[in-house]
Amino acid sequence: MKMLGEIKMMKERGNMFSNATRLVAVENGVEKRLAVDKKNIWEQEMSDPNVQKLIPNLADVSANLSHKDFLHQLSADMNDVFAEKKIQQEIALDYQAMKIQSNTGGSFPIHTDSDGIVDTRLISAILYLNPDWKKNDGGQLRLYPFPYKQVDVEPVFNRLVIFPSTGLLHRVLPSNAKNRFCCTFWFSGNLRHPTADSPTSRIFSAKLRNIAARLVYAQEWEEAIRESHADSEARDQMIANHWKDISTIGRGLSDYVPYIGQYLPVDRNSAEGQEIKINWF
Ligand SMILES: [Fe+2]
Repeated sequence: MKMLGEIKMMKERGNMFSNATRLVAVENGVEKRLAVDKKNIWEQEMSDPNVQKLIPNLADVSANLSHKDFLHQLSADMNDVFAEKKIQQEIALDYQAMKIQSNTGGSFPIHTDSDGIVDTRLISAILYLNPDWKKNDGGQLRLYPFPYKQVDVEPVFNRLVIFPSTGLLHRVLPSNAKNRFCCTFWFSGNLRHPTADSPTSRIFSAKLRNIAARLVYAQEWEEAIRESHADSEARDQMIANHWKDISTIGRGLSDYVPYIGQYLPVDRNSAEGQEIKINWF
């Protein structure tokens, strides 16, 4: 409750800033970088010492999660979970970053938190702080663990969701609540990759799974872009870029289409016992 009080105070005092989607548009052969604000999403990073002074309880949480003993223990615990689930990947975490968020009626487009190239984030975690959340408030986190079907997670008080930063597409459905609060944590580090050795294991590598999922969810992808940003030329550009990408992906994945068709989002329960080796990172 102390954490929630501090986030509310930051929002009321105007100490949070609008979140933006970044994109590259090409006009007459010249690349332009654009930032398009998301509607009604307000955030603040915890790395600034001046911010930490304003919200000491949240700053303590961030400091504790950044301690090397905690990161070492979390890596070991996650690797135990992977081993139990026969996931042939291991992580070693060495850095934590935290953000607080207030959502006053916004949503997020479909994305992964990291592409695994420009940063080393491996694990994302979100702590929800909404004691009065009701079903018709919306704002669920929708996860796309392709080839399994999508899963919706309700943002109820004290719920912590943990998922891979690179290998899991997700979005936030439109929120109708007056406000929806959460803290996001990102844990960075190193990863040991298994080798892909067959067309099916290749299609279930983190990158190809997400690309194949984009083909399958192309229409929902466009809707999520529309819902998350105000009507603007930049948003039109984002949607045009999306469909250009879909056409490229369709051509590029033509060899894999039979495998995608075979495994189109499947129900996790009915898939138990099936030999699908998924790389989550
Ligand atoms: Fe995200």
